Formats: sequence, C-alpha cells, structure tokens
Amino acid sequence: MILSIILVLLIAGTLAFHFLSPWYFTPLASNWGAMDDTVSLTFIVTGFVFVCVNAFVVLCIIRYRARAGSRAAYEPENRKLEWWLVGLTTVGVSAMLAPGLFVWAKFVDPPQDAAVVEVFARQWNWMFRFPGEDGKLGTVDASHVGADNPFGMNPADPNGQDDVLIANPIVHLRLDQPVKFLLRSIDVLHNFTVPQFRAKMDMVPGMVSHVWLTPTRTGTFDLLCEELCGIGHFAMRGSVVVDQPQVFDEWLRNQPTFAQTRSNGGGDAVAGASLYAVCAACHGVQAEGNAAMHAPRLAGQGAWYLQRQLHHFKQGIRGAHEKDVHGKTMAPMALTLVDDNAVRNVSAYIAALPDVPAQVTVKASAHKARDLFVSTCGACHGPDGKGRESANAPDLAGMSDWYLVTQLQNFKQGIRGAHPQDMYGRQMALMAATLTDDRAIENMVAHINELR
Ligand code: CUA
Repeated sequence: MILSIILVLLIAGTLAFHFLSPWYFTPLASNWGAMDDTVSLTFIVTGFVFVCVNAFVVLCIIRYRARAGSRAAYEPENRKLEWWLVGLTTVGVSAMLAPGLFVWAKFVDPPQDAAVVEVFARQWNWMFRFPGEDGKLGTVDASHVGADNPFGMNPADPNGQDDVLIANPIVHLRLDQPVKFLLRSIDVLHNFTVPQFRAKMDMVPGMVSHVWLTPTRTGTFDLLCEELCGIGHFAMRGSVVVDQPQVFDEWLRNQPTFAQTRSNGGGDAVAGASLYAVCAACHGVQAEGNAAMHAPRLAGQGAWYLQRQLHHFKQGIRGAHEKDVHGKTMAPMALTLVDDNAVRNVSAYIAALPDVPAQVTVKASAHKARDLFVSTCGACHGPDGKGRESANAPDLAGMSDWYLVTQLQNFKQGIRGAHPQDMYGRQMALMAATLTDDRAIENMVAHINELR
C-alpha cells in the first residue's frame, strides 16, 4: 500500500514539476520553433506513457494484493494483448520520430537567398568572415594560417581581398535575414551552438559543415562550443548580436577587410614617438615599466595587443571597474589618444622599442606550475610564453612579473575581464580561476619568469 502511495506521489510530483518548473527553454530567437515543437511532442508522448505505466503498476498493486485464499494465475502468452502493445508502441514511437524527419529536411536545405557567414573555430576561440562586396568568399588553406593570417586566407585570391574579417568572438547578424553558417575548425572537433537559435552543428577539422537559420528578434546571445575540445573548452565563448538592418550594415561597414588588415596593421612608429611622451612619465622612456607607479613594462609587447588594450581603456571595457585602481588611472590617459591612427602609431612606437626583459621580483616554486602552464596558458600564449597574435594571446615572458600577479588576481576576482564586451578578458578570467590561490598565482608567474 505504501508503494502505491509513493507511485501516485511520483506521478503527481513529476507532472507538477514539469508544468510549474521555471527551468525550460530560453525564449526562441530564430525560425527553428519546430525544434521546440518536436521536443514538446516527445514530452507529451513519453509523459503519457510514463503516467499510464505507473498508474497500471498502482492498479496492479492494489487489485492483486495478497489476500487469504487467492492464488496467482500463470498466463505466459496472450496474442491479442501483444498485438495491442506492439501497435500502440509503434504509433507512439512514430509520433515521436516522424515529425523530426520533416524538420530535418528543412534543416539541411538552406534558402537560396541566405547570407553566408563563415565561422572559424580553434582552441579556444571564435572568428568570423563575411564575403565582401563581391559576395564571394576568397579561398583559404591551412598552409596559409600564421600569426598575421589567422584565417589562412589565400593572399593571391582576388575574391578574398574584400572579405570582412572579424578576428574576435563577437559577431553581428541582420534581423530576419536567413543566414547560412559555413563552419570550419583548424584543430579539433568543436560545436557551434547558440541556445536561443536551437540549431547547432559540429565543426570538423578538414571539412566545412554548415547550419542555417533566420534570427527573429534582436538581442545579444551567448555563443557556446558544445563539443568537449580540450582543457579550455568551458572558456570557448562568444557572442552573437542580432541587429536591426541599418545597425547591422553600419557595424559591418566598420569591420576591416582582408586587404585592410594587411596594409594598416603597422601604424607609424615615428609619428607615435611624440604621443609616447605622455606614457613615458609612468611606463618609462624605454617602456621598461615602473613598479612604484604601478605601470607595467610595455616594450616587447605586440602592437596588436597594445592597440586592443588602448581601445578597451578608451571604450570603458577595461579600467572601469571600481576596484581596478590602477586601471582607472590608465583609462583617462588612453583618452588622450584622439583617434585610431594615434592608437596605431603609439602602439607601433612601443612595439619597436628594445625588448629588454623586466627585473625579476617574484620568487616562488616555478616547477610546481610548469605542467599547468604547458597544458593551459601555453595553448594560447605559446609554450615559450611569447604570445600569439593568432590566438589573441599577449606576450608574457619578460613582462613585469608583479603586474602579471596583479592581473591574474584581478581576473580571478572579476575586476578585469568582467565587461560583457571583453571576450578575451572573460576567457582569461575563466582560466585564471584554475589557479586556486595567491601561492598558485606566484608559482605560475615564477615559471613565466623562467621563460625569458
Ligand atoms: Cu571548442 Cu569545446
């Protein structure tokens, strides 16, 4: 009797949980409502069977309970009953699976007018490419992939010159425009997933897979990798921003083409020299850094990284957190660089200064951090800690070690990398969380000191 009460409570509890639970799909943001419908259908069919089977068990427990004088009857075969069960199971399974086939037929058939966006995945980052004004994507090849050509663009292909390259994990899409994503991976299996879009697809090295959808509402959605792709898998995040058409066009116009990234990455170091005078007051004449002023060494750092950080300081993406005392002093200084040209020039000047390693001030057990560095940090920053532009990871070796300690602490405490637009910072914050305490941070920095 107790068992039957438990079963009744189980049925009632399950139904109540399903209908009252706050945990369900995030609101849909694409045309793939059919995915939700098929899942709902599965819930209905399996839920109906679940209730029937358990209710039948309850009925049997009560009706056929042990009573004085009653005996069990043995009935091994019942053809009629078996036909009924086979028939009902067939109907139930077909009802669950057949509609999915119709959805799948649509899923593998992108509309003719779909815009094309290429998604490029690597451990553990996202990048994107739009065909330029000619509407054609240039050819790519893994053999072209390098520090200054992360997409592996074929430099000789005229179709590729106007391709728009988004070398960061934030991509925009136009509202109500069907889009076909061409999915490439450079290293291992990844999976392109935006939960609100419902559609997702594996990315397989050596081939181009695809998935299509139409974004149906504006907003910013998380882009996740849903294939276990290594130790940094959990940190492989991005953002998809769905815009009104005018906003999208404006955004796309402001992104660099392949030809532009080749021509103007450099900046003018001579013009940057006079701009640097302001920075020199804290960072030193040779950008060697000054611990007393909390100004890190900048010399030896890649111009691309200096540019990004200066832009982040200018845009309030970095140095805006109330606890980031020294970042807050840097933010107004960055604003003295009036435009992108100034940022490029001063970065070019700093990058050309002599690469003399900063003084060692942190002493700890470097050997304890060696393996962790190789398996985590090294994947992006390089096993030699020299940084890799293609992985958006700055130079660490030879940088001010006290600064590395503070930044790791800041990442860990959410002081740096918490801004929604600081995608690499967010990734770094997740990685910094693997360093359990200050001791672990110092050991790691001591190991980085040995790489110089
Ligand atoms: Cu890429 Cu998980």
